[in-house]
Amino acid sequence: MSDPDELLYPTRTERVEDRRKERQQRKLVDEFFDHATLLAIGRLVNQGHFQSLDYPISTGKEGGVFRASGPNGFRAVKIYRIGNSIFRHVPPYVIEWLRREVGAMGNTARMIYAWTRREHTVLTALRAADVRVPQPFACFRNVLVMEFVGADGLPAPPMQEAVLGDPSAVYSDLTTQVHRMVTSAHLVHGDLSPYNVLVLEDRPFLIDVAQAISTEHPQARELLERDAAHFARYFRRLGVETSADEFFEAVGGRQLPVGVSA
Ligand SMILES: Nc1ncnc2c1ncn2[C@@H]1O[C@H](COP(=O)(O)OP(=O)(O)O)[C@@H](O)[C@H]1O
Ligand SMILES: [Mg+2]
Repeated sequence: MSDPDELLYPTRTERVEDRRKERQQRKLVDEFFDHATLLAIGRLVNQGHFQSLDYPISTGKEGGVFRASGPNGFRAVKIYRIGNSIFRHVPPYVIEWLRREVGAMGNTARMIYAWTRREHTVLTALRAADVRVPQPFACFRNVLVMEFVGADGLPAPPMQEAVLGDPSAVYSDLTTQVHRMVTSAHLVHGDLSPYNVLVLEDRPFLIDVAQAISTEHPQARELLERDAAHFARYFRRLGVETSADEFFEAVGGRQLPVGVSA
């Protein structure tokens, strides 16, 4: 047990540390939980999707993903930031789509709501095509509620950080998932890398799907080729004999129209 005096009168360094933590906490609150976002969360809570946000699993430039708890267990809640920064990183084909979707009068918030809805729609389409992705439960404004991919309350790690039990088996499972995405859902992910695949007990889950595009899009083939190169490099390091071409072929890439590359 610690000295009660120490508990009552924290040392100077502890106080500094506390204040630093508090500042960080406040920064997170300011960045994510603006008034409109709090109202959106409130509505999803009222609808019974979850009761509380437990902690951030990940916070990035474009948004954060939180673990949430509720009557039906854990959920993953993705909150997109209402700010311009999100669209700095998205490719032009996505901006084109957003402009069409929201119209010339659309403000940033409406574009982000459309973006969030798009992630929900793509997840739904992928589930229908039997691709392993988190099940989407609800989406309102900039908040998306989906299945929590994890075990014992701990989130599954991204493939980049995961330790694979059987890399060849994971390779073959992953190519099956992407093959279904391409040939049944007719979609190309657009940002598929070991960071956007979670691995739970050697089962890959594809995530972060908002920028997915139709396989008919002139850039689809090029995007899939890039993704294939990421995974070929990753799996070769783990001793799986493959190449970007082989991955591309295994996921049905040869069927894609050859784009009009600049
Ligand atoms: N359904 C989920 N279950 C558990 N963790 C998740 C889930 N979705 C996302 N995450 C975690 O949040 C991180 C960021 O999610 P992602 O959708 O890739 O958003 P970003 O746009 O920030 O890249 C992931 O790398 C993963 O660690
Ligand atoms: Mg991501």
